[in-house]
Amino acid sequence: MNPSIKVTILGPTGRLGRAICEAVLDAPGMQLVGAIVRAESPRVGQDIGEMLGRAPHGCLASVSFEESVANSDIVIDASLPAMTVSVAERMAVLPHHCCLVTGVTGFKPGQLERLATASRRVPILMTGNFSLGIAVIEALVEQAAALPAKDWDIEITETHHRLKTDAPSGTALLLGRAAAKARGVDLDRTAIWSREGVTGTRKPGQIGFAVSRGGSVVGEHAVRFLAELEELTISHRAYDRNVFARGAIAAAHWMCHGGKGREAGLYSMQDVVRV
Ligand SMILES: NC(=O)c1ccc[n+]([C@@H]2O[C@H](COP(=O)([O-])OP(=O)(O)OC[C@H]3O[C@@H](n4cnc5c(N)ncnc54)[C@H](OP(=O)(O)O)[C@@H]3O)[C@@H](O)[C@H]2O)c1
Repeated sequence: MNPSIKVTILGPTGRLGRAICEAVLDAPGMQLVGAIVRAESPRVGQDIGEMLGRAPHGCLASVSFEESVANSDIVIDASLPAMTVSVAERMAVLPHHCCLVTGVTGFKPGQLERLATASRRVPILMTGNFSLGIAVIEALVEQAAALPAKDWDIEITETHHRLKTDAPSGTALLLGRAAAKARGVDLDRTAIWSREGVTGTRKPGQIGFAVSRGGSVVGEHAVRFLAELEELTISHRAYDRNVFARGAIAAAHWMCHGGKGREAGLYSMQDVVRV
């Protein structure tokens, strides 16, 4: 039997981080060895089991990132972009081979470049959505945009809870990129991020986005392909945040690859569902 996978979690106090901590604690063959919080966090030193309302676990919320990584096979990141970039760069100069799985969204172009540079030394799996269902519809969108719906108008809609701070969601961007890639165009040049006032008519080839925020919606996405005589909609709805936690566990298993760990490079959930 493979020894258990040792996991450090970044951002264990957040909504996603808590769900991932619970999933790691419940996952056979996984061991939570580190939980990294902000230096100013009131949680520093608190037992993660107790933080989650469970029995004490022995893993304490800490700020000692390098120490945790030295003892880990994988870091699962549920923090925010600046933290992700900083830890990826710190991992790139550490001698210990450790993979990074990040579910964080809202990176600026410069931050994405820095992550790509870090991935020359560190195996990094990045995804705007850990759900296996989203990974499947990403492939379907790519297929539809390339073939049956190659001239159809594409509109992407998403709804999330009122506390989400970035828009459009990382998942909407991921689906937009899949459609743009299939059509051989650059999303940033074809996207219409919002519409207001006298917009003029829709130009061929545009990929439109519309965003709603409210309540406690975990995540809803739809990609509509609109033609004159018919419409195709590919949609996904997450009922529970645990869907992301389960996907994060699947991604972590895939990255650890039977204990060896993937080679340095950038990976996505497409790699995980392709297996
Ligand atoms: N890929 C997916 O499937 C998926 C699903 C849901 C969400 N997300 C993304 O995951 C990210 C987190 O979402 P969330 O809803 O969990 O947000 P959240 O509740 O605001 O949690 C953010 C976490 O990051 C921590 N943090 C913030 N700044 C930090 C820093 N400088 N150093 C260390 N930790 C820091 C926060 O710590 P404090 O509690 O101390 O502030 C908290 O634990 C977002 O980018 C979101 O879009 C991805």
